[in-house]
Amino acid sequence: MFQGTFPEEITGTRLILKKLPVTFDMARQIFTLADADRDGLRFLPWIPYTHRPEDSYTFLYESDKNWRAKTDAEYGIWHKETNTFMGCIGAMDFHDNDEAMIGFWLGKDFRGHGYMCEAVALMENMLFPTVNRIIIRNDTVNEASIHVAEKMGYHRDGIMRAGLKYADGHYADCNIFSKLRSDRS
Ligand SMILES: CC(C)(COP(=O)(O)OP(=O)(O)OC[C@H]1O[C@@H](n2cnc3c(N)ncnc32)[C@H](O)[C@@H]1OP(=O)(O)O)[C@@H](O)C(=O)NCCC(=O)NCCS
Repeated sequence: MFQGTFPEEITGTRLILKKLPVTFDMARQIFTLADADRDGLRFLPWIPYTHRPEDSYTFLYESDKNWRAKTDAEYGIWHKETNTFMGCIGAMDFHDNDEAMIGFWLGKDFRGHGYMCEAVALMENMLFPTVNRIIIRNDTVNEASIHVAEKMGYHRDGIMRAGLKYADGHYADCNIFSKLRSDRS
């Protein structure tokens, strides 16, 4: 459980991260973005279980519960100027060693603009006063995610063999990238 308080909004240069509202409109927006690019989002474990906007509503409902329990902070990513919803970033797996994990995705039209690097930096600003270590886990063939981790100065601690299990039952190796509070100074 997170020892601090999750802010409902985090404003950056080009982005605003906001707590995801539990509404059918939000569920529809998430579903539409995800459903338009199932192959591009194939590394996300929830994609095969997301068949209808109702499934995204269940995700919002669970996220809200976890937010209040301080076990998971799931943010939507909006473009500040256009107010366009572009994807999500979340912090989870808070451990006693003051570690948390972040996970993220963007709709296909919003990649390649540096938005995720900005979103990761905003999450770090929020988390680092409280946590000491942030990790990013990614499939060893997920080049875009690896690129974000490396660009943001994360250290590749190693490879966890068969650290991921996908919905079809196959296992995949995953990288563990970490950044420590002291890495930022
Ligand atoms: C992982 C993912 C979020 C990365 O998205 P992305 O668009 O590549 O990442 P960013 O938004 O930070 O963009 C980085 C690139 O944007 C470009 N860019 C354009 N304008 C930029 C700016 N103003 N600032 C920084 N980068 C900019 C850069 O070229 C940069 O690439 P480079 O470092 O090679 O030059 C995206 O590929 C995705 O959603 N994948 C599917 C879901 C997924 O696998 N999630 C991770 C699970 S572990």
